[in-house]
Amino acid sequence: MTAAADPAPDGAYGPVRRKEDARFLRGQGTFVDDIQRPGMLYGAILRSPLAHARVVRVDTAAALAHPRVRAVITGETLEQRKLAWMPTLSRDVQAVLATDKVRFQGQEVACVIADDPYIAKDACEAIDVEYEPLPVIVNPRQAVAEGAPVIRDDKEGQAGNVIYDWEVGDAEGTEQAFAEADVVSRLQLHYPRSHPSPIECCGSIADFDRSTSKLTVYMTTQAPHIIRAAVALVAELPEHMIRIISPDIGGGFGNKVPVYPGYVCSILASILLERPVKWIEDKSGNLISTHFARDVYLDGEMALRRDGKILAVRMRTQADHGAFFSDAQPSKFKIGLMHSAFAAYDIPVAHMTTRGTYTNKAPGGVAYRCSFRVTEAMFFQERMMQAAAQDLGMDQAAFRRMNFVRDDDFPHRTPFGFLTDSGQYGKCLDVGLRAIGYDDFRKQQEEARSRGRLLGLGISTMTEPLGAGNSREYDILGIKMFDSAELKVHMTGKAIVRTGARGQGQGHETTWAQIVSHELGIPAEDIVVEEGDTDTAPFGMGTYASRSTPVAGAAVSMVSRKIRAKARKLAAHLLEVSEEDIEWELGRFYVRSAPDHGVTIQECAMAAYSNMPDGMEPGLENTAYYDPPNLTWPFAVYIVTVEVDPETGVWDVLNTVAVDDCGVRINPMIVEGQIMGGLAEAYAMANMQFITFDAEGNCVGSNYMDYMLPTAWETPGFELHSEVVTPCPHHPIGAKGIGECAAVGGPAAFVNAVLDALSETGVRNIDMPLLPDRVWEAITQRHDVSGAPPVRTD
Ligand code: CDP
Repeated sequence: MTAAADPAPDGAYGPVRRKEDARFLRGQGTFVDDIQRPGMLYGAILRSPLAHARVVRVDTAAALAHPRVRAVITGETLEQRKLAWMPTLSRDVQAVLATDKVRFQGQEVACVIADDPYIAKDACEAIDVEYEPLPVIVNPRQAVAEGAPVIRDDKEGQAGNVIYDWEVGDAEGTEQAFAEADVVSRLQLHYPRSHPSPIECCGSIADFDRSTSKLTVYMTTQAPHIIRAAVALVAELPEHMIRIISPDIGGGFGNKVPVYPGYVCSILASILLERPVKWIEDKSGNLISTHFARDVYLDGEMALRRDGKILAVRMRTQADHGAFFSDAQPSKFKIGLMHSAFAAYDIPVAHMTTRGTYTNKAPGGVAYRCSFRVTEAMFFQERMMQAAAQDLGMDQAAFRRMNFVRDDDFPHRTPFGFLTDSGQYGKCLDVGLRAIGYDDFRKQQEEARSRGRLLGLGISTMTEPLGAGNSREYDILGIKMFDSAELKVHMTGKAIVRTGARGQGQGHETTWAQIVSHELGIPAEDIVVEEGDTDTAPFGMGTYASRSTPVAGAAVSMVSRKIRAKARKLAAHLLEVSEEDIEWELGRFYVRSAPDHGVTIQECAMAAYSNMPDGMEPGLENTAYYDPPNLTWPFAVYIVTVEVDPETGVWDVLNTVAVDDCGVRINPMIVEGQIMGGLAEAYAMANMQFITFDAEGNCVGSNYMDYMLPTAWETPGFELHSEVVTPCPHHPIGAKGIGECAAVGGPAAFVNAVLDALSETGVRNIDMPLLPDRVWEAITQRHDVSGAPPVRTD
């Protein structure tokens, strides 16, 4: 553990109510759309109705004729300023507004700036665009077929639609292990597209002040500092003249990490018109064109010994990235952290190949509540574990337990090369099995089957690499991944802490104050937390991939310790003893030999401004940049029981048990909220969320009837367990990330449960979502059901 100058007794951790809820629950949050600037104009985006077409002509005359339309920006306007294309976070380029071609349905073609948002929207319809349709590609198989049209003919040297071929692991060793296997188990599946779909869509207000040349942008971004760097580089504006403010955010889930054309258009319009310009995306625009997640085809094999020992794993993956490769992920990993698969299992050797392709779909691959593709990795892992246990005729739980990395095997090198450091996997599984009543359920299942009822039990485990960096291995476009915190303790002992993270509802305003309070004994209510303003917050990489607690949270405790070290000097001065003679207890220093003789942290704060020793720099403030030595590796077991109706294919969840070990919990109430939200999303992905593309590339399901967000009505109850706590050995307070775990690990538990109920049918796979007609088809036809419903493009 990182050395602490003084051991901090348990003080401030615990189930404290969220500070920020006071304003959110009263409707007093300040979201981008709540912000008004004097003289503000409004932008609306015209989107392409076609998925692939040459843009022959964009006629804006009728739109411009409207007296309250101030400008119409087209690809041509941008091209004149060399701004028609912008770099993506994966070193590709993306069209801001289409010039040569449109490459997916919903792509941005023009932007109207008007006096009010309704006029801007109406005027979009007056723009006349002539398209020349081109053949459309909607999956990786079509992308590499002979004669397939090249989607990205804008890129020099791009002959086909393959973006990358990448591999990791030991091909030869894996081959050898497979040759020695008693049993080889195989599984193929598709993790369908899903959409993060935050309640608040994306939006920005750009306000360029000609008199100071300062550009202020209010923006729905999870990563304000990265945006500032991107704006500086793309628009060639000086970085100190750019201020990105990310106010309250109505959910991000990864959707608000990338740079979107709407942001760029509002910035350019503000610079050109010298007026503030607001752009707020509508729901359809958000569902059809902002970044999707997943869309990966996974095909894998497991080499097994007859007694159940896993000898090797081989994975082949194909990712459908849509028209632009714009994933936000560490630059050196082409498919994110997909190779975190099987990290919890002791597997000697593995190999993975992966191919990324362009298709005529909106960009995909955003890390929706997920640490860069670990959701797909964990889903495949746990579906494969179930299939392999079935092939071996082994009990699901026993097979997992037999192959888990044991508690005393850490640090452990995973089959794809990560280093995990701690966990109690077997214990988590035992707690989960006891809670669900595993043995009893298996008996009930047998008995129910004899009466024609289909009961099923699904297990899923997950260990997720959370907290990118360290900076040695993790960077985005060369910007190293670390994070920061700045703490200022005022004269009266009240404090303000700012971090480089940007919460979107996770409760940072509460938990960061709890960390400071835990380290310094200042009551949490005396500490204000501020994030999201690049002019005031220290540089950081933002909040996604559950990295806030592992990195920014660690920085908060480290900066608190720096403050405590200075306060100790002040205490020694006030108590007139040497530093070595004083002890620390929460909130107070005292003389070791005279414990009643002491000073509080508040008295030290006052002294920092009014009575510091000779030679000491006044004030009590500091900044910490924290570069984590490793990722944190939380672990979880999710177990679900279901009943499937054989007549209709409808399935109901009977019970869900979650055992999450995220190390030390700063605020157990917030942690439970994160797990419940994640399980609700996992259930929705497995059960009801359907969004796909037909053969012409029309986005089907981009509405909340098809792409259903579960409410309390649809969502089953969850039983959460917190008794397993394995502190992270390198995190200053022993915490591991938690934000995404249940959304990552949950889907496989629901799917495994339904397939377990169907085990007599021989059906091995039903691709998500497990809509009733698909389950019914599997039951009645006794075959696997793959691909996206109901529009089959495979
Ligand atoms: O990066 P993000 O905030 O989305 O995820 P996180 O770091 O996993 O934290 C989510 C919320 O749970 C934050 O408010 C954390 O402070 C809190 N948390 C906690 O109380 N204890 C943990 N061990 C991990 C997170």
